[in-house]
Parts: sequence; structure tokens; C-alpha cells
Amino acid sequence: MKHFITSLFVLLLLLSSSSCIEKVFAKDSSIGIDDNKALSINDKVNALLLKMTLEEKIGQMNQYNGFWDLTGPTPKDGDAAKKYDHLKKGYVGSMLNVRGVKEVMSVQKIAVEETRLGIPLIIGFDVIHGYKTISPIPLAESASWDLEAIKMSAHVAAEESAAAGINWTFAPMVDISRDARWGRVMEGAGEDPYLGSKIGVARVEGFQGDDLSAYNTIAACAKHFAGYGFAEAGRDYNTVDVGTSTLNNIIFPPFRAANEAGVKTFMNSFNELNGVPATGDKYLQRDILKGEWGFEGFVVSDWGSITEMIAHGHAKDGTQAAEIAIKAGSDMDMESYLYVEELAKLVKDGKVDEELINDAARRILTVKFELGLFDDPYKYLDEAREKEFTGQQKYHDAVLDMAKKSIVLLKNENNLLPLKKDGQKIAVIGALANDNTSPLGSWRIAADDSTAVTVLEGLKAYSGNQITYAKGADVTIGETKFVTELKINTTDKSGFPEAISEAEKADVVIMVLGEHGLQSGEGRSRTELDLPGVQQDLLEAVYKVNKNIVLVLNNGRPLTITWADENIPAIVEAWHLGTQSGNAIAQVLYGDYNPSGKLPMTFPRRVGQVPLYYNYKSTGRPVLPAPDIVFWSHYQDEENGALYPFGHGLSYTSFEYSDLVVDIKSSKEVVVSFNLKNTGKVKGKEVVQLYIQDLYASVTRPVKELKGFELVELEPNQSKNISMTLTDKELGFYDNQGNFIFESGDFKIFVGGSSKTLLEKKIELE
Ligand code: BGC
Repeated sequence: MKHFITSLFVLLLLLSSSSCIEKVFAKDSSIGIDDNKALSINDKVNALLLKMTLEEKIGQMNQYNGFWDLTGPTPKDGDAAKKYDHLKKGYVGSMLNVRGVKEVMSVQKIAVEETRLGIPLIIGFDVIHGYKTISPIPLAESASWDLEAIKMSAHVAAEESAAAGINWTFAPMVDISRDARWGRVMEGAGEDPYLGSKIGVARVEGFQGDDLSAYNTIAACAKHFAGYGFAEAGRDYNTVDVGTSTLNNIIFPPFRAANEAGVKTFMNSFNELNGVPATGDKYLQRDILKGEWGFEGFVVSDWGSITEMIAHGHAKDGTQAAEIAIKAGSDMDMESYLYVEELAKLVKDGKVDEELINDAARRILTVKFELGLFDDPYKYLDEAREKEFTGQQKYHDAVLDMAKKSIVLLKNENNLLPLKKDGQKIAVIGALANDNTSPLGSWRIAADDSTAVTVLEGLKAYSGNQITYAKGADVTIGETKFVTELKINTTDKSGFPEAISEAEKADVVIMVLGEHGLQSGEGRSRTELDLPGVQQDLLEAVYKVNKNIVLVLNNGRPLTITWADENIPAIVEAWHLGTQSGNAIAQVLYGDYNPSGKLPMTFPRRVGQVPLYYNYKSTGRPVLPAPDIVFWSHYQDEENGALYPFGHGLSYTSFEYSDLVVDIKSSKEVVVSFNLKNTGKVKGKEVVQLYIQDLYASVTRPVKELKGFELVELEPNQSKNISMTLTDKELGFYDNQGNFIFESGDFKIFVGGSSKTLLEKKIELE
């Protein structure tokens, strides 16, 4: 029956004289079929493919960066002219970095009205943590462990960007990252595959919503498949060499989860993985993703990553790179120009099977249909809506809420925090305290500079305190969005005397130190994880005159703030919190909001410990055998442990964990319950965490693995019994052949408020 309808449809389609796909597919009556719904998207795509030339199908697989400034003339020469010509011929399926209704309209109109078949473009953009209204960087959001808030943040980003003509984001980045030297740790959910999977799913759901064809949802993209977060030495784009256990149990889970959540696209990766560039890796893309996991969307390459296979030493030239990439399963070429230039000939020469082209084009066209672009290619292009939706108050409310939830209280000796709202002299010190661009962080291309609320502004708005400000020292000078000019100002201490003098006069000093927003992100790896420039010196100089310091950190990655931890009484991890940064920080410092964030990534003591993560393996020599023996797994000059462990974060109240009960219903159902009590004086929220250890296994398991968490809010003195269930899904693991298995034996169950857990019980499962 299905075949009959398809054939009928194809016939009618071929008879149709319409050149506009919108007319062909959208208006049932125009093709004489009463119930167009009877035709699945699949049928429509197949029918359309029959109309397309080989070059047009390859065109769908070609993605170009924006080339045409709306206000300028039509491109006349060079790169832009070539892209323009290709667009008019129908040889472009997607564009990225074209944004704003006017600009998108200019290219969409060409695709729809000037090409032979009128197939609309899918418009991609890096909507990573907001579009114009900026949410905290993804690593910061992850510190909230609040899946609903994270989903809302992605939804806000989707709605605002969709109103500006975007219908596809290159997010979420679900790469697990264990190495804080890597600049892109800011873009992910940190080091843990369980938390990372939950957050990845929340983000996909937030972007895509329940109905992808709605005006305020956009297609998501799980990236970078795979292994990008494991770049050797934390240097971006570097070689990745990991074993099957790490690949299956650590790297794959968030990708698998994103696929199960229905993510429409995947992006492959710049790095090579075990000797094969991910872009050209058939095992990753065809065998695992499209084969085993049954992924039905399409895979886009990373920027120029098909060409980069030549530099990797994997492809001889562009022709071979294109051949390798398509055979491996890369459906769309981002900015390598190689599909559009090489694929047709490769097919004609018999080197590439046309079925591979059909499959890639089919996948891309399917997503376009699902977005509703064939029903109305201009559906995202309403200038009135763009105006109305950009920067709406409700977006600001949502990113403020997210920002407060993202803050982690690392240390609070003698309850220095929260601060009193009146009658205090507060000295605010640090260039970042007065910076309204840096809090926007990295990856916020559409946001305007100078649009974040500064800490200084926030502190003034929320209290009647007497507040003074001194910069003390710069963080960086001369950086731009894209050019690496992070000349760290290492010597200028001319601002120190003023800062010291203000600190001397103050009751409390708030020092806002850390990294500029553009010191993390792509291409921003570091070999040191300290406070850049002379900020450490500034901190120590101020400390000499006033010890009542609240250190507020702005950063995109874990930092080695060991001296601060030993000396400074209160430390607040405030990341790069986006547009509402200063308001969120002020609300937390004054106690209007009780912090509940927990670290999604371990903070090392020293950079030499990196990669340092809580779910490490034991080794054969895990503990000090005797005080004078050197032959065990350790450093001579530093302890093994973290400065702040994964999952760590304090509150203005305190929590007590007790009464751990582990009820073994069966080896596939273990119910863990315990009591949580708010033992402090104010209402607070705690992220309760459940970990397991599989004590011995055919493939060794980590010393701890997060397997459950919950946000629990309690009034002072209130208690709650919490119960979480572990099934074989949590108790099992992937073996080295990639099979998910459960092995009976001894397990430990831990619960607590961080990965340094408080309660534990050993059990035996049959
Ligand atoms: C990044 C991707 C990004 C793409 C498009 C690349 O350099 O690795 O994550 O989506 O550029 O901007």
C-alpha cells in the first residue's frame, strides 16, 4: 500500500509543472491528493530525490559559511562569488554564520526562488549558551545539576535564535573532558559520563522541544563525535588515543543518550582517534552511530575537517579526502568545498557508490522536512517576531535563574558569606569586577559586547553598603574574538597601591579574579591553570592588609587555586555567567539566593596532576604501603587528591546524611535509601549524589561512578527520606568488545554531597 501511494505521488509529482517545492509539498490540493498526511516524510524525500540531479544531491551535502553582507553588494569575486554561484545553482544545502532575519532571508530567497528545485537551506549557527541573551557557559550550567533549568536555558536559546532566522544549532557539545588545560572544557558538561548524558539530553530536549516544526524550536547537534575531549596534553585538535573501555564507557554514553533522545544531527570531530581522523572514521560513523545505534539524522563534518585529513597524513589529496569522508559516513561538508568539487567525479568514475550520496541527501532533506522548511521556507523569517523576541524580559529572567543555580560555593570559613546588606564598607578589586564583556564567556558570537551586568553593578544594586572599586591589575590585554592576541599582562603592578589602600579601609574585600571570557573556548588551551597575569600577586598583596576576602572566580575551566584555598576564607566559583552575571553573583553574596551548585569537574592542586578526575582506576599500587617506601602510585611533590573534588559545593546551610539502607530486590534492582536533614539555619538545596564501585570485574571499573542524583530542597530542621533505584543499567558496563554486560559480585554503594562521599555499604549481587 505504502509503495502504491509513493508511486502515485511520484507520478503526480513528475507531472507537476511547479518548480517551487513549497507549492509541491505544502498544498495538498495542488497535487490532487486529498490526504497529504498519508504521505510520510520518507515518501516525500524519496519523491524529491527522484527529481534531483547528482550535482543537486551533492549540493545538499555542501555547507558554506556566510559570505554576503546584506548591506554590501552581491559578491563579485573570489570565494564569495564562487559560493554565490553555487547557491544559485542549488549546490548549497546549508549555510552557517548567516544570522538575523534580513541576512538569512537574502540567502534563503535565492535557494527557494532562484534554484531549479527551490529546496530551502538549513541555517546553522553555534547557539551554545544563548543567542543574544547569554546564559552561563555550558560547564557552569552543568554545575547546577538542574536538568529542568538547563532544558529551559536551551529552550530560551532556541526561541531567540529561531526568531533571528536560525533553525539548527551546533550544540550540545557532549564531549567528556578530564583535562582542564583544554580550552573547550567550558563548552561541555565536565568529566562524568552519567551527568554528561543527562545534561546532553536536557539540552537536546530544550533545543528541539516536542515539535521540531514549531517556530521556536531548532535542530540540535551532538558534537564532536568522537574523542575530542581527550586531546593529548589538553592541546586543542591534538591526537587522541584511547582504549575500547574508555571509548565505550566514558566517551560514548552522552552521544548514545543524545541519539536516544532524538537529536537530529551529529558533528564529527577534528581529532584523529586511534590513528584515524574521526571525520574519515567508518567505524565511528557507519558501524557505531548509524549502524549499531540506528541514528537516522545526518552527520556534519567539523569546519574544514575533511580537508584536514590531508594534514593528518590520512588522505593523499582533496579527492581522496572526499572519498574517505563520504564512505565513512560524513553526510555534510562544512567548509572544505570538497564534496561540491570532488564527489560527482568520484561517482562517475565508479569510486563512490551513488547510493551513499542518496543516503546522505535523504538524511539532510528529512531533517529539512521535519523542521517544516518545505511547508514554509520563510517560517523563521519574520522581522516583527525577531524584533519582539530578541532580548525579551523572560529570557533575562531565565538566564538570571540559570546563573544563580550555576554558582558553586567552594569555601566559606567562619560564615563570612553571606554579606550584610547594610553598614559595611566593601572594597571591590579586580579588572573582571568591572568588565561587562568578559562574563559573556566564549562561544557567544551573536551577543553584543558590553552587555553583561558587572559584579560591581550587581553589588551596588542589591545593597546599601558603601562600595569602592579598584582595578588592581589587568587580566589580559588586546584580545579580540577570533585572533589569538592574549598577551597576558604579566608585569604591570601600577594599580596595586590603590587596591591595597582601598582594601585597608574596607570591612570586606571582594576580589573578582580569574580568566577573561575569551581565555577559554576553542583554540584556547593553557599549560598553566593559575590566575593569569599578576592576579595571584595582587591577591597576596591585598591579603597582607585585609584577610577578610571573598574571592569570586570568573573562569572557563578548573583552576589551581591552592594558595587561595589555604588562605582566603571565602571562595565563590562564578565561571562566566552570561548577561545577568553581576546580578546573580550579588544575590548569592548577599544571601538572597542560597547557592547549591556542585562542581562538574575536579579542581586539581597542580597542573602536573592533570588529567585528574574522580572516576579513576585503582592501579595495582593504590595506597601507601609503608611510610618510607616509594614504589606506589603517587607523586613525590604533591598528594594525589583533588583540591576540590567532583560534586563538591557548599551551601549557607548544612546537611546531614544518615540511615543508609540498601535493599537488594534482585541483582537487577537495588533500592538505596537514606535520610537527609537540613541542620543549618536557612532553607537550602542539596544535590544528593549516589555512587557505586564494582569491586572486581573482567574489565576493571573505576573507584567510584556516579549513578544517580537528585536536587532536594529543605527548610531548616526538615528531613527527607530519599530513595533511588539502581538497575542493571547502572550496575553494568561495556566490555572491550562493546557489549553491555552485568557481572555479579561485590559492589560498594556510596551516598553524599560530593564524590568524597559520606556513607557507604558493601553488597553482594548474584
Ligand atoms: C568547531 C565546532 C563549531 C564549528 C562551526 C568549529 O571550529 O569545532 O564546534 O560548531 O566550528 O562554527
